[in-house]
Amino acid sequence: MKKLIIINGPNLNLLGKREPNIYGSLTFTEFLDKVRAKYSDVEIDYYQSNIEGEIIDKLHEVGFNCDGIILNAAAYTHTSVGIGDAVKAIETPVIEVHISNTFNREEFRHQSFISPNAKGVILGFGLQSYELAILSFL
Ligand code: DQA
Repeated sequence: MKKLIIINGPNLNLLGKREPNIYGSLTFTEFLDKVRAKYSDVEIDYYQSNIEGEIIDKLHEVGFNCDGIILNAAAYTHTSVGIGDAVKAIETPVIEVHISNTFNREEFRHQSFISPNAKGVILGFGLQSYELAILSFL
């Protein structure tokens, strides 16, 4: 059985409540339940943290012993050299995802410290961005 993990960064625990015009009104738990039911032959772990170092620790922990990492580092995407370096340091391929199209938003969201070291980037498809990333690992 393939083993994937979704790692979400800061403020993504508020999905469903947070700026629903941008991020939608589904909670991540509701979305995850659906996706796990649909891809029941894949193990899909989930981790969320609002703390940069905890995201780095999680990447180190899973980055040598699973088949794929789906990472939405949220605001840290645009600021964190440390998370970018962690993505480079591990063996497991990382797909960078974003719910919104960061390129049609503020200029500061156009830069990513993750993209240069990611296997690929999927953005702008709402929560479906995560599902497309899952499909890319199957
Ligand atoms: C986001 C885009 C980021 O710019 C933002 O800081 C987020 C969410 C997205 O999924 O669209 O928190 O990563």
